[in-house]
Amino acid sequence: MGTTATPEDVTAALRGVVDPELGGDVVELGMVGEVTVAGGVATIQLALTIAACPMRDQIEADVKRKVTALPGIDETVVKVRAMSAEQRADLMAVARRRARDGAAPTMVNPLTRVIAIGSGKGGVGKSSLSVNLAVAMRIAGYKVGLLDADIWGFSVPRMLGATERLEANADRKIVPVEAQGIQVVSTGLLVETEETALMWRGLMLSKALEQFLRDVAWDPDLDYLLLDMPPGTGDVQMALARLLPQAEMVVVTTPQKAAQKVAARIADMARRSYMPVVGVIENMSGFTTETGSHYELFGTGGGEDLANDLGVPLLAKVPLDPLVVSGGDEGTPVVIAHPQAPSAVAITQAAARIVELVPPAQEETCTARIAILIASLENAPPVAGA
Ligand SMILES: Nc1ncnc2c1ncn2[C@@H]1O[C@H](COP(=O)(O)OP(=O)(O)OP(=O)(O)O)[C@@H](O)[C@H]1O
Ligand SMILES: [Mg+2]
Repeated sequence: MGTTATPEDVTAALRGVVDPELGGDVVELGMVGEVTVAGGVATIQLALTIAACPMRDQIEADVKRKVTALPGIDETVVKVRAMSAEQRADLMAVARRRARDGAAPTMVNPLTRVIAIGSGKGGVGKSSLSVNLAVAMRIAGYKVGLLDADIWGFSVPRMLGATERLEANADRKIVPVEAQGIQVVSTGLLVETEETALMWRGLMLSKALEQFLRDVAWDPDLDYLLLDMPPGTGDVQMALARLLPQAEMVVVTTPQKAAQKVAARIADMARRSYMPVVGVIENMSGFTTETGSHYELFGTGGGEDLANDLGVPLLAKVPLDPLVVSGGDEGTPVVIAHPQAPSAVAITQAAARIVELVPPAQEETCTARIAILIASLENAPPVAGA
């Protein structure tokens, strides 16, 4: 991948790590100390509010995933220590200021995990997998939103059978439509008057995405927000990385080697925009007839090769299955209509792997404990909403 990331690149990547209890990124909260890069090893001094904080494992894992995704970094060493009382007071001041200013650049809660489903090539199954992964996560008990970032080529509404139109609330924010238990936003759900049509057509794709992130009243309780990305457009990805630094990516590819090359390009872009790749899903991976004959219609090995190249797990191989097509056409995703079908089982497995690799921000935090501690230190009232 050419050059090796500098300590500045590492710090930039760390801006994508959010402290789940304070809601700010670890750099702005002053938790990052010295950062060094030598011989492919990044070493980061990380100060946590309390060394025994239950958030520790999650923050450490996030730091490692983000930093090891950078070019030329093979290993990330995190040296954790506890903050001094003075540092804790500074941190709480930042947290208070954040709570007061409250002007988040997007309406997405920083604690919501954001997963973009991308590929380098069109038609590999991004949309089919996005809706099915979203539903599989919902069935597993998570609160899930799905943003159709394919502004012109939207297919999410049809695949989820969403027919309701998007409407604005009293704050003039767009309220997501609910379909199959998923909170959905798509240009396909906008009322098409000539005026809105003109407005949306005039927007650049990246601007349209920005609108959806800023003007939608996303549920602050979402565990996951999935994004169905348009095929291989770089500016939308860069916009996403800028607007939602916590975004991570799942790359979809087919078993074909040529497709793999295109997917590798998108993964490279993800790295350059500090968007870590969570894993690869191989779709349209072989076809088995009713009589049990198996055909590798699109070749083999593309998913494994790409996952190996990127050093990320192959999350699942989803077979070619007419039930995926009919599920999409009828608006009842295969994981609901035929949960026992091998394609549905593979997608459910991929969803479980994603949850394992990018666990939802934990509810149980040590915020209350810290707030009490800080209050006793500086006799200040605890942070609002803690
Ligand atoms: N595992 C599968 N088995 C059979 N058909 C599939 C499978 N996955 C996707 N398809 C079908 O392939 C076609 C393309 O899928 P989909 O629209 O999900 O791809 P996409 O990557 O989102 O495409 P685009 O780049 O145009 O957004 C659809 O007709 C869909 O039903
Ligand atoms: Mg699509």
